[in-house]
Amino acid sequence: MLVDGRHYRTIWEKPPANERDLPSVIQVIDQRALPFEFVVEDLATVDDFARAIADMHVRGAGLIGAAAAYGMYIATLNAPDGHAFGAAIDQAARRMRATRPTAVNLTHAVDRQLAAIAGAPSVKQKRDAALHTARAIADEDADHCCAIGTHGLAIIEGIRRHKTSGEPVNILTHCNAGWLAFVDHGTATSPIYAAHDAGVPVHVWVDETRPRNQGASLTAWELGNHGVEHTVIADNTGGHLMQHGMVDMVIVGSDRTTRAGDVANKIGTYLKALAAHDNGVPFYVALPSSTIDWSITDGLTQIPIEQRNPDEVRFIQGAVHDSVQKVLLTPPNSPAANYAFDVTPARLVTALITERGVCAPQEDKLVEMFPEHRTKTSIAQS
Ligand code: MRU
Repeated sequence: MLVDGRHYRTIWEKPPANERDLPSVIQVIDQRALPFEFVVEDLATVDDFARAIADMHVRGAGLIGAAAAYGMYIATLNAPDGHAFGAAIDQAARRMRATRPTAVNLTHAVDRQLAAIAGAPSVKQKRDAALHTARAIADEDADHCCAIGTHGLAIIEGIRRHKTSGEPVNILTHCNAGWLAFVDHGTATSPIYAAHDAGVPVHVWVDETRPRNQGASLTAWELGNHGVEHTVIADNTGGHLMQHGMVDMVIVGSDRTTRAGDVANKIGTYLKALAAHDNGVPFYVALPSSTIDWSITDGLTQIPIEQRNPDEVRFIQGAVHDSVQKVLLTPPNSPAANYAFDVTPARLVTALITERGVCAPQEDKLVEMFPEHRTKTSIAQS
């Protein structure tokens, strides 16, 4: 997507000084600084990657997956050539997996890298294979998000046909399932960008998304950069807007979706789904298949829900004049709880928008669309 007229992905390779060398530095946008500053960060060690994912310099299911894939590539580069190579790779895989538990893209990326590395005979070939795989994961993520835009656009156009001319389609979204959460395009935002670019008038209600405010700081920044009409709202506003006919559809992303269509997404998504259900507002979830956990069916009991530092609830970050500051919101000694995700049961989801098309949140429909996953697989852990 464009930032000040220049095309960026959220993760890319820094060109090596000698073009015959393998890239040894990966660059990302440090999202903690947005929307106030655009900071590019260099990642060159497994530690750098683990910290960047856990502390959310990079975040969002697709980008977490791509970052973990590049983290594993960097592990092959920094691992010693001899017999200690394998142990270093296993340790890097454990480090990556421990960073964030909910987004399944991370597990998929690490598993895919381990298989690619194991399948190459020499250390040099293992490094080449890991680089090739990291590039493939990043490119697939961008391509899949782009395809989600095409399928979602048809839904937005359908809603548009029932509105009076000039009236925008009002879309509510939660958190940031935008291009910043993936490698490019985003999931929930991809149909929005496609509609905007096709001349379909859209207006987005952006949930601020406490505690880290990814909606207010990231989604609003993205939409504004692309010229999409939007309004930031406090998290509790969506139900009121739906009761008054001010929301035509909800589109959210997902961090892990079961093969039966239960959706884990940023905390608060479930409440929006309940309000949408009560008001007859269609509730769509946009996700690439890399976010589907084909090994589980029951989201409530089988999806691990990350709990983060309670200080993310107790403090809030913002700009005071030119300086970014954190301020305390609660009495200094009040404890806080910080559940990062919740699960929306499939029965509250109108449809899933995937790279292969739109389908009902049901196991048989998902498997029809992704027949290679007809058999339930288990996820490898190391
Ligand atoms: O905690 P985050 O910011 O990594 O959470 C991811 C999200 O932004 C949302 O849950 C999003 O809606 C899912 S799409 C990656």
